[in-house]
Amino acid sequence: MSNTEAFVGRPQSRVDGPLKVSGTATYVAEFGAEDLLHAVVVSGAIAKGRITSIDTAAALKVPGVIEIFTHENRPRTAWFDYKYRDEVAPPGSPLRPLYDASISYSGQPVALVVAETLQVAQYAASLVEVSYEAEPAVVDVAEVLGEAYVPKQKRSGISPPPKPRGDADGAFLAAPIRLEHEYRVAVEHHNPMEMHATTVVWEGDGKLTVHDKIQGAQNSHGYITSVFGLSADDVRVHSPYIGGAFGSGLRPQYQLFLAVMASLQLERSVKLVLTRDQMFTFSYRPDAIQRVALAADKTGRLQAVRHEAVMGTSRHEDYQEVVVNWSGLLYSCDNVRLDYKLAQIDTHTPADMRAPGATLGVYALESAMDELAYAAGIDPIELRLINFADKDENENKPFSSKELRACYAQGADRIGWSRRNPVPRSMHEGRELVGLGMATGCWEAQMQKTSARAVLTANGHLEVSSATADIGTGTYTIMTQIAADALGLPLESVTAVIGDSSLPTAPVEGGSWAAASTGTAVRAACHALRQTLLDAAAGIDGSPLAGATLDQVTFQNGRIAFIADPVMSVSIGEAMQATGKERIEAEETASPDMKAMATYSSYTHSAIFAEVRVDEELGIVRVTRIVNAVAAGKILNPKTARSQILGGVVMGIGMALHEESIPDKNLGRFMNHNFAEYHVPAHADVEDIDVIFVEEEDDMLNPLGIKGLGEIGIVGTAAAIANAIHHATGRRVRHLPITLDKLL
Ligand code: MOS
Repeated sequence: MSNTEAFVGRPQSRVDGPLKVSGTATYVAEFGAEDLLHAVVVSGAIAKGRITSIDTAAALKVPGVIEIFTHENRPRTAWFDYKYRDEVAPPGSPLRPLYDASISYSGQPVALVVAETLQVAQYAASLVEVSYEAEPAVVDVAEVLGEAYVPKQKRSGISPPPKPRGDADGAFLAAPIRLEHEYRVAVEHHNPMEMHATTVVWEGDGKLTVHDKIQGAQNSHGYITSVFGLSADDVRVHSPYIGGAFGSGLRPQYQLFLAVMASLQLERSVKLVLTRDQMFTFSYRPDAIQRVALAADKTGRLQAVRHEAVMGTSRHEDYQEVVVNWSGLLYSCDNVRLDYKLAQIDTHTPADMRAPGATLGVYALESAMDELAYAAGIDPIELRLINFADKDENENKPFSSKELRACYAQGADRIGWSRRNPVPRSMHEGRELVGLGMATGCWEAQMQKTSARAVLTANGHLEVSSATADIGTGTYTIMTQIAADALGLPLESVTAVIGDSSLPTAPVEGGSWAAASTGTAVRAACHALRQTLLDAAAGIDGSPLAGATLDQVTFQNGRIAFIADPVMSVSIGEAMQATGKERIEAEETASPDMKAMATYSSYTHSAIFAEVRVDEELGIVRVTRIVNAVAAGKILNPKTARSQILGGVVMGIGMALHEESIPDKNLGRFMNHNFAEYHVPAHADVEDIDVIFVEEEDDMLNPLGIKGLGEIGIVGTAAAIANAIHHATGRRVRHLPITLDKLL
């Protein structure tokens, strides 16, 4: 069945763009309800210990206050831990807000004030008096390295490190060139533009419509019904637009629990929007202490790779990421030992943040590779080519595709690598030192079981839907493109509907799998309508398609046409009329190809090049250029795809130079919980970013050859910048962010 792709592969502006720029896309905090109550969270002041008393008397006297919930008067909720475990929860006991008097991290919610207006709720919250009995808390993973352990239970979807291969220790000692260093990245808190929020609409009779900031409406839906013992039909979760998330919205956050609890108890609609400060009271990328040891022979061939990481998690959940496995995957080496452990600290459970694990692990490996390039006197790109992995040596499987060599070549060409004098501090311009650095990036190409529905109505309009989300990635747009192509309709005739728990089943939007998963399901659902349409078209009196079979026709330009003789055609509208129906619909489920997965390893790859300028006297670093050359299979939409890479690169700049949640070790809390002191890259920090999509075909994964793009943009970026700073200054900083004090 041939169908020239009309929209897939072409740059296409976001279909939801006009709604967003005109302010008509509705976010959680903008939903209202009749007699809406406003809730404000009182955040705890200690990191560890117990609440000894909570005095709400003064707060309750404020006119307009309806109720103040604490652990002393909270309604009953589910008993067992598993009831609180959402779709992507790590092993352990999830936080139960207001459960009892115990405090396990700073900022933990200790009370919820509900009032007729937001202002009254805020004022009353300031009057709640909480007394504590504090215990010493540890918030720095470096202080508990001695307590590190291998997690007993693996987090679902996470691969533990592969077994050691060869003899990494022996080969390391025997090699002529060796290095071993510790690398560290500061804790970063998710800070999307939209704060986490929930608006619960009390529909009467125990029925709720819940507007929640979540990367998968069905995850919140499952959580609510499980925790509060509600039936599936009593709750509908709605999350059509998300103002960024990067992983903070994968798991339901405590504001969802609190808002639903209050609504059910008061039988009223409740809105709860966290403050920017409170965005620092959950959900962060953990700190990991990483040691990387590399050894090579004189030609640069890797002889040994060791990568050990100890990552912080909370006391109550074994949160895990794939941190070290990359070091057995990115390069070919016979002697590899990878170790990954956790250590518990008194914080909230960390959360996935854009390319979780790879951001940290690839940063460490790619920094060490740059150090090895200097130690061996070999160009950094050349060193990577010498050690190029032609197969996945962790799993001993071929790659389904890997156009990484082209990424190196095209990226190097675009940044002008040939002008680089390899000697550190050798390039100047004015009062600034100039540096060029590079790194490799890698992320898993995944797909998840996902369902989608396609509905074609008599007026020729196609609606495709799935319970997935669009966290700014462009899901609406690529669904529209894929559906339009599948039935040969113009884009304007297609609407994508997502972000609603009542839609066909989809997992959270994460892991860069949404395009491959939802895209494949949408395509299948649309294709399922083709036979009905062709039968109807062929049945029209004197039809030019009489007797035609699906493989003889194409759906294009609004018509079903014979491939052999396109003049012989029937319009989709006529075919639809001939069905005699108001609407035809199909629902299909797309699943990953287990056989292909067992045979091949599938990854996206990238080569990132950074040009920095460093003011020698002031230590100020400017990232003047980034070139990110990405091989990610089929690029559905070069425009939204480019935006994905830009976003990832900007987060990588933040990781390299700015973002840092600084723990106060005495108080056990993050000190800089605001945008005045927690710095994210601003416009002035983002100069020239150039994205290259390297041609890559991969028909192993899914019919469209999609690998996913949401995360690869950040992987390796911080290493490329750190390597460029070393090249510019001769200073090797192994603890991100590289703030100017580290360069002076
Ligand atoms: Mo992503 S960290 O899977 O939203």
